[in-house]
Amino acid sequence: MNDAIRVRVPAKVNLRLAVGPLRPDGYHHLFTVFHAVGLHDEVTITQAEPGAGVTVRILGEGADSLPSGADNIAVRAAKLAAQRAGRSADVEIAITKAIPVAGGMAGGSADAAAVLVGCAALWPGTLSAGDLHALAADLGSDVAFLIEGGTMIGTGRGEILTPVLAQGEFHWVIAVSDMGLPTPQVYAELDRLRADLDVAEPAADDALLRALRIGDARALGRALSNDLQAAAVSLRPELARLLEAGADLGALGGIVSGSGPTCVFLARDREHALDIAVGLTTTGLVRAVRHAAGPVDGARVIA
Ligand code: C5P
Repeated sequence: MNDAIRVRVPAKVNLRLAVGPLRPDGYHHLFTVFHAVGLHDEVTITQAEPGAGVTVRILGEGADSLPSGADNIAVRAAKLAAQRAGRSADVEIAITKAIPVAGGMAGGSADAAAVLVGCAALWPGTLSAGDLHALAADLGSDVAFLIEGGTMIGTGRGEILTPVLAQGEFHWVIAVSDMGLPTPQVYAELDRLRADLDVAEPAADDALLRALRIGDARALGRALSNDLQAAAVSLRPELARLLEAGADLGALGGIVSGSGPTCVFLARDREHALDIAVGLTTTGLVRAVRHAAGPVDGARVIA
């Protein structure tokens, strides 16, 4: 029987998150640019005795607030992977969290991506890359990207991925708030705010893609955009003050990450990121501040 498989999986930020009209299936068409950053959860998968089922143990930031039963997306990922692999679903999952919970950085999706990659390693030859992608798309809109990592365009509801030509390394300051925001609530608030508007189909932004192509942090900072930001700020007005504080500290750009409430700020370099991080800490507007570089790899087996 195989020993434990350890997988490291990053958080994501959306450099652009253009949200189209609400679809009949309750999702929204997106044009997003995903970017994986070096803030990682670690997930260990161990084969359990036959009949033991899937169990999950969660340690680290915000662990107490997560479900440990069948509702946990990591448990669902293990069951789907076992079914596709033709194995019985008997695994122990241990997750050490560093990605903020309900923070808009895809922490739950990251753990699901790690479980899929871990199961493929635990049961060699049973799950192809195509299988993993299909299971990922079933599990959530961000899961497929977190298997890939790097910087990629996401369309559909986020699960259809296209590589982006990108060079350089970017330094981010990640400002974590006290309380998470549930993603469906933020999308619903956006629908409410736009109820009387004609919502266009979401589209690319040439300035952003060019900034990535030439590795220009200043241009990237100017081109960051997130349609969900207005909705997150409407639900948490204090985020406006946090974004302003980042701008005052000289960030090249700052946005709400995904559905928030985590905000991310682009720095010139590592040193500048540390300066911004110190400055944000003193505002009292955040629970924690982290520095992370991107892009980084997606979910990878480390031992
Ligand atoms: O796919 P995922 O489970 O991550 O999505 C969480 C929620 O976010 C969905 O239930 C939906 O309310 C919202 N969502 C959306 N349109 C998307 C992605 C997510 O409305 N493209």
